[in-house]
Amino acid sequence: MKKRVGILTSGGDCPGLNATIRGAAKALYQRMGDKVEIVGVLNGYDGLINGNYREMDPSEFSGILTVGGTILGTKRTPFKKMRVIEEDNVDKVKAMKKTYKEAKLDCLLCLGGNGTHKTANLLSQEGLNIIGLPKTIDNDIYGTDVTFGFHTAVDIATEVIDRIHTTAGSHSRVMCIEIMGNKAGWLTLYSGIAGGADIILIPEHPYDIEKVAAAVEKRAKAGKNFSILAVAEGAYSVEESKMKRKEWTAKRAEAGYTTATNRIAAQVEQMTGAETRICVPGHMQRGGSPCAYDRVLATQFGSYAAGLVADEHYGVTVAMVNRHVTCNPLVDVAGKSRLVPDDCDMLNVARAMGISLG
Ligand code: F6P
Repeated sequence: MKKRVGILTSGGDCPGLNATIRGAAKALYQRMGDKVEIVGVLNGYDGLINGNYREMDPSEFSGILTVGGTILGTKRTPFKKMRVIEEDNVDKVKAMKKTYKEAKLDCLLCLGGNGTHKTANLLSQEGLNIIGLPKTIDNDIYGTDVTFGFHTAVDIATEVIDRIHTTAGSHSRVMCIEIMGNKAGWLTLYSGIAGGADIILIPEHPYDIEKVAAAVEKRAKAGKNFSILAVAEGAYSVEESKMKRKEWTAKRAEAGYTTATNRIAAQVEQMTGAETRICVPGHMQRGGSPCAYDRVLATQFGSYAAGLVADEHYGVTVAMVNRHVTCNPLVDVAGKSRLVPDDCDMLNVARAMGISLG
């Protein structure tokens, strides 16, 4: 009996998706030879809902180790809408189960982040054979020490900080660099440390603008003519932390700000007299070839997933725990996230280095 294995990539892309697809496919062919067929579901759960899939040829998994993005395409299909019947009158869960059956899948590999894992768990509870694989530059999936895509994004954001250093020094400016990460500050924390940022602001630690300005002034008094702020896209202030999210996002919008970075730059300029500038590398952090670390991790995760398929071990997601590849039940992971804890080693490193956390 041939096994038909579906693969989809869902949510925001990241470097290492193709490397993981390749890792799983090559390890599946290695184990099962012509006893396995791989079906690519296009554009994530949207493809599963709309019956958009195709059989893949083994040759399609060659030459993609270093390629950014995803050969399968991806889309954000919010979990909270999965059970909602919208104007198109489509019962999405029913449609996904129908496609799974029509495509004669024995199992489905779902590569994605937190949202993807919630839907993966839903499908698993609906009786489908699902295996998750943790991707995201945010590194915030519960139960795994690392996700593929994270270290590449750290490298890219670090290079941004490095390059900003020289222009900051030339112009004696305070530079505020907005790093991706809406709820989790891992990327800002790691790239901030790797790039030698002076101030690191993350969503898990609401900032006090007085402390930020004081840190800039302290450096100026010590004769440093510039400062570098690594600000997570989702950073918010102590005052905002006392309000409901909806409330402070509305207030910000009223004031003409979407993220905190612009406001921090304006406030620091006003409070310290230093000239400030903003840099938003944005989606560059998710683009291009995966770094060597992510290629290795993607290959480890992909080949482990092939073993799970062979063992028919479903309802789980692949994880790295204490440097060992393992898996966690989807039900334990879905709906949770892994944020930077206050006693995190890397936060303590930042504190020990005199980096201001605001
Ligand atoms: O989850 C990864 C991520 O890059 C976040 O850091 C960021 O907030 C979000 O995706 C951006 O999403 P989009 O690509 O949909 O704008």
